Amino acid sequence: MGKRAPTERGPGTVDRAADSRVTRRQVVLVGFMASGKSTVGRILAGILSWQFVDTDSVIEATAGVAIPEIFRERGETEFRRLEREAVDAALRRTEVVIATGGGWAAQPGVFDTLAPGSFVVWLRIGAEEAVRRARAADTLRPLLAGDEPLDAARRLLQAREPGYGRADWQIDVEGRSPREIAEAIARTFEDT
Ligand code: S3P
Repeated sequence: MGKRAPTERGPGTVDRAADSRVTRRQVVLVGFMASGKSTVGRILAGILSWQFVDTDSVIEATAGVAIPEIFRERGETEFRRLEREAVDAALRRTEVVIATGGGWAAQPGVFDTLAPGSFVVWLRIGAEEAVRRARAADTLRPLLAGDEPLDAARRLLQAREPGYGRADWQIDVEGRSPREIAEAIARTFEDT
């Protein structure tokens, strides 16, 4: 995908343009579980020579336990609180690529926490491919761990699309390698 067309911009951009807070150079990756945010983010940070923050890893380090255990022992509400804290802390950095967890962009008000200079990218994936990848991964996704993961994925994806759709730019990940995706984001971001 080349330079972004105006139609690819989300409304989040407009809100943030009016924001008077300091400009930070940041790429924030959003999108459904298993869309490759962490893998792409790490490659992109290398290309830009920026720091990389994977907020799920930060949450696990802070809590001292893995994410499935946080969901099990403390519940999703507490997980979302920890997630919000982890992303807020990452957003205070500059020259950083941030891989958020799949639910973050769908939480109320989170786009208002972005400073001007942040570029939000939605890594688009379909429910089928997300479930296929999640099954093959080492990481357990509690929200896809029930008996009907595909139904759960379809339901969640549909509910979250308005949130993801506030991103400044989006790219379909299926059929593209993480490096191709990272290079496309870097080109677009540098052209913007
Ligand atoms: C979640 C996605 C996960 C992780 C947690 C909840 C979600 O991250 O934050 O299991 O609500 O979509 P990935 O998007 O990296 O799988």
